[in-house]
Amino acid sequence: MGAEGILVTGGAGYIGSHVVRQLGASGERVVTLDNLSRGFRDAVTYGPLVVGDTSDRELVRRVLREHSIGIVMHFAALTVVSESVADPLKYYSNNTAGTGTVLECCLAEGVDRFVFSSSAAVYGVPNGGIADEDTPTAPINPYGSSKLMSEWMLRDVSAASGLRHVALRYFNVGGSDPGGRIGQSTPQATLLTKVAAEHVVGKRPDVPIFGTDYPTPDGTGVRDYIHVEDVAAAHLAALAYLRAGRPSVTLNCGYGRGHSVREVLAAVGRAAGRPLVTREEARRPGDPPTLIARADRIRETLGWVPRYEGLDQLVRDALRWEHRLQAERPPI
Ligand SMILES: NC(=O)c1ccc[n+]([C@@H]2O[C@H](COP(=O)([O-])OP(=O)(O)OC[C@H]3O[C@@H](n4cnc5c(N)ncnc54)[C@H](O)[C@@H]3O)[C@@H](O)[C@H]2O)c1
Repeated sequence: MGAEGILVTGGAGYIGSHVVRQLGASGERVVTLDNLSRGFRDAVTYGPLVVGDTSDRELVRRVLREHSIGIVMHFAALTVVSESVADPLKYYSNNTAGTGTVLECCLAEGVDRFVFSSSAAVYGVPNGGIADEDTPTAPINPYGSSKLMSEWMLRDVSAASGLRHVALRYFNVGGSDPGGRIGQSTPQATLLTKVAAEHVVGKRPDVPIFGTDYPTPDGTGVRDYIHVEDVAAAHLAALAYLRAGRPSVTLNCGYGRGHSVREVLAAVGRAAGRPLVTREEARRPGDPPTLIARADRIRETLGWVPRYEGLDQLVRDALRWEHRLQAERPPI
């Protein structure tokens, strides 16, 4: 079969599909496993799509074996914080137990390298709003806990076996493939840039701003927004790192720079050519005023150099995709 295969779980979803595209474009042999609960068949632009669930041991083992998989990149997860609060067991089962099953299958089939999609949600509300990788983890919702428990499992499995891993804690991911081929199609997305893009194309009457009295320069929440293409590139860098035999590591994946809600909405307004209609709402419980990555370690460790820093390109790419979605998949 030739070069080792890379299994991307959740590769029909938003971030996973951008990683599949970059892997495929760089000549890697890539296979996607996705149950299509939140993903889309046509988002998978390279390699076969196996439709199935990470909880299906037999299937996962067969895919690892039949496709000569050497490395797993594990994105498959549910990601909606409010849903995790309402139905925590769904998140522990799908995200945490799901990761356990994939790890178990890796050990059984001799797959010894693993890249994991973790999240800034593992930090909860860090002191000062800036988190480095040594900041104590203290998730404040079941989604964040489900991710942290997966990290712990990965740490312990790596310590007990020959498995090596890179866990990437993404901050706020936005934008889409600048070539316009794929993007974020997630229904009921909650990320600000996606919500604002949906407003611009007429899917939402306005954009809510949750909290205008935070101790931040303009009173709105500040986050570290990172372009999905740069997140995807970090995975290719993680792949090279693991192939070079380097040790397991957990890294923030952000730019280390924050933007307020109002700054983001102004950027979307610039790209749209008109100001947005906004609606001021109370703070949401558990939202930290500021959440920014200390992002030196990922650059030093992986040699990762972001190419899409700055809000304007992220917002332009998000809008271009939203216009295409609106034209091709108008809401029912
Ligand atoms: N979007 C962000 O800003 C962000 C931030 C931090 C971390 N993450 C993490 O990145 C990963 C990808 O997130 P996304 O934004 O692309 O979400 P997404 O919902 O677009 O993609 C997740 C994909 O996983 C699939 N999936 C879910 N459970 C599955 C299962 N049990 N078996 C098989 N497939 C399954 C879904 O169908 C979907 O295609 C997730 O692990 C998420 O926790 C995302």
